[in-house]
Amino acid sequence: MSGTRGDREQERGSAPELILAGRALLNGRLQPVEIAIDGEGRIQSLGRVRTGAPRHDVGDAVILPAATDLHVHFREPGGDRGVESLATGTVQAALGGVTLVGDMPNNDPPIADLDALESKQRLVVGRAAVDVLLYATPTRAAALEPLSRAAGAFKIYLSPTTGIRETLPSAALGPLLERLAALGLPVTVHAEEPDRFGDRSPPRDPVDWNAHRPPEAETAAIDRLLTAPAGLRLHVAHVTLPSSVERLRAARVSFEATPHHLLLHDRSGPDARFKVNPPLRSEADRRGLWEAFRRGEVPCVASDHAPHAPDRKELPFAKAPSGMPGVETLLPLLLARCRNGELELATLLRAACDRPARWLGQPLGRIAPGHRANLLVVDFKARTRLDGKRLHAPCGWTAFEGWEAIFPREHYRDGRRIVEGGEYVGRPSGRLVRPEYAPSGGPRPPRR
Ligand code: NCD
Ligand code: ZN
Ligand code: ZN
Repeated sequence: MSGTRGDREQERGSAPELILAGRALLNGRLQPVEIAIDGEGRIQSLGRVRTGAPRHDVGDAVILPAATDLHVHFREPGGDRGVESLATGTVQAALGGVTLVGDMPNNDPPIADLDALESKQRLVVGRAAVDVLLYATPTRAAALEPLSRAAGAFKIYLSPTTGIRETLPSAALGPLLERLAALGLPVTVHAEEPDRFGDRSPPRDPVDWNAHRPPEAETAAIDRLLTAPAGLRLHVAHVTLPSSVERLRAARVSFEATPHHLLLHDRSGPDARFKVNPPLRSEADRRGLWEAFRRGEVPCVASDHAPHAPDRKELPFAKAPSGMPGVETLLPLLLARCRNGELELATLLRAACDRPARWLGQPLGRIAPGHRANLLVVDFKARTRLDGKRLHAPCGWTAFEGWEAIFPREHYRDGRRIVEGGEYVGRPSGRLVRPEYAPSGGPRPPRR
């Protein structure tokens, strides 16, 4: 992109407000860098600049772009505020190095028309610690067009899950995808085919749950999605199988995998904290998914942060709700894998920062001029072990109890610090965002 006159003035123009100096991964190599940040909180230039602006040197630590989590459930409206809210969820995001969350529409009531969306938008403003994009669910034909002008993305549920009892009749999917393709917003699908669910005796543990909502249900749902119109911006949520990775890649369809499907399997734990949709799979499937992720074949990683109160998770397995918290631990768990040499940092940054932000049309996720200065400072020597009680989710538990993690020491949002020494120091100034390529427009797209 050649850049407008405004862009060029910005490049040459006003003096930077802050210089952040440290090491960063640039052109595939960790190297010293000075990042000049302008008065609007954008990255102005990389490299030495002579300026009187304050200079913050992070020493040996590494500066990373902050992450985008495409998939969270912050439970407002309709949820129990003691379990989660947009306010508490976005603080966990900030502490975990996530600068933008996509919040799902399976609220009570579901976000299925403009009124519901607008009242949810009002819950974000003045209460969110990081930026928020809101999904809507396209279940009412008359609401599609107005929603496409106000929502950030659409979410389709092919099977029942938390808060979703009614799903789309089979024959309705094709025509709906055609309509959504014309409206232009990204569309994420929960891809499990309920026809393939078992109806045997009540599931007692995650192994039974995997048999009840089996791998074939994901395969069959993806079969149907592969017939989607070419113009649709289609993304498949929480993919669990190595075979799904292969097929979606071949079809050039975007998708995400979660840390729990990458790191846990159906025998990782016996109780309902390990109950999630789609289910945790066999160790062989998990390993295959992880290997594909390591090879860079999984475009995005997302948490599917879905907290439930501990007493509901203590119900008999069959009655307990599905889902586990994860927005605070998404990046820290995987940064620890990088530190251990099990994952390339560049692979992680593409999947956690660059591609998800690009999917949602945001100038985020890279250390590059024109991008927002939403950055993390990470000291790779500062390894900790996860403890559900010390994490910030009000539900107070994690399925990754005792796992190694590396939390960001600092988190900058538009050049201002919101996490310092691992503590949240920000204000609830998170914004509502929509894709910048959406029909009603928005700020200019990032320069590549
Ligand atoms: C999610 C929830 O609880 O909202 N649960 C889950 O098991 N993943 C819903 C979902 O993403 O399917
Ligand atoms: Zn889902
Ligand atoms: Zn979800």
